[in-house]
Amino acid sequence: MRLAPILLSLATVSLAAPANFFDNAYDFSDELSDFYSKVSQYISRVRKSSTPSATCDISKIKLPAFASGLPAPNETVPIYVALGRGTQNYTCADSTSASTPKAIGAVANLYNATCLAANYPDLLELLPNIALSISLPTNEYATFPPANLGLMGHHFFTGTIPEFNLDLTATKQFGIAMTKKGGQINAPTTAVKGEYGAVPWLYLSTIDGTVGKYKGVYRVDTASGSPPDTCEKMPSSFQIQYSANYYFFGN
Ligand SMILES: *[C@@H]1O[C@H](CO)[C@@H](O)[C@H](O)[C@H]1NC(C)=O
Ligand SMILES: *[C@@H]1O[C@H](CO)[C@@H](O)[C@H](O)[C@H]1NC(C)=O
Ligand SMILES: *[C@@H]1O[C@H](CO)[C@@H](O)[C@H](O)[C@H]1NC(C)=O
Repeated sequence: MRLAPILLSLATVSLAAPANFFDNAYDFSDELSDFYSKVSQYISRVRKSSTPSATCDISKIKLPAFASGLPAPNETVPIYVALGRGTQNYTCADSTSASTPKAIGAVANLYNATCLAANYPDLLELLPNIALSISLPTNEYATFPPANLGLMGHHFFTGTIPEFNLDLTATKQFGIAMTKKGGQINAPTTAVKGEYGAVPWLYLSTIDGTVGKYKGVYRVDTASGSPPDTCEKMPSSFQIQYSANYYFFGN
């Protein structure tokens, strides 16, 4: 039996899964079930095929259809696609229902999902829903389950500027996208909401300070991340877990 590399890495998920990942079969969420039923369909299809595809053809990558509500990219295909997993950070002036949470930034690890986007876009679309219930690995450079994706960079705010830093190590220098918001739409009603809802889908355009050929970054397939409507009973600063897919366009 020959399997394409991505399917192999999906099939060997337990190797990279956190110790508690499969502790309780009854914790197997609907999201994880959907994901693995797709994976097993692919595996049986690949088993029957005499020439399993092991390529990673980025010209096949497309933004999810729902992103058509955002400004369309000028470039036809993205440079990279990443699974983001981290927190959205907020502050509250006081703990009453009279004030509303203020977004002060986000911090997330970016995992390289480019080949998954090229070959299995329907799996990629489901991934943030699962990633949301998986903690970041304690070893910063470990791969992230359930698709064993490798770290490719970090997302954080420099002051008020959303930054995507893909200069990971001395040898992995993939540039920096400094951005500003250029469009937003509410997440689809099917998004995994977490406690208070999924953060909007975004188009971010690059600004001065960008290193490399990046022109725009799309945040799509969001899961959770939104704050409560008001600050009632909330601390002065708090974090909400989130996950999303990021598409990096450029030329
Ligand atoms: C496409 O290019 C035009 C002209 O440079 C620019 O105004 C527009 O913002 C670009 N759109 C996107 C989504 O990057
Ligand atoms: C946001 O929260 C993260 C924890 O996920 C923390 O490490 C970071 O310092 C916070 N950033 C800000 C600006 O509050
Ligand atoms: C992402 O993975 C692809 C395929 O393995 C690789 O060509 C590319 O360099 C990686 N990108 C980053 C930023 O690590």
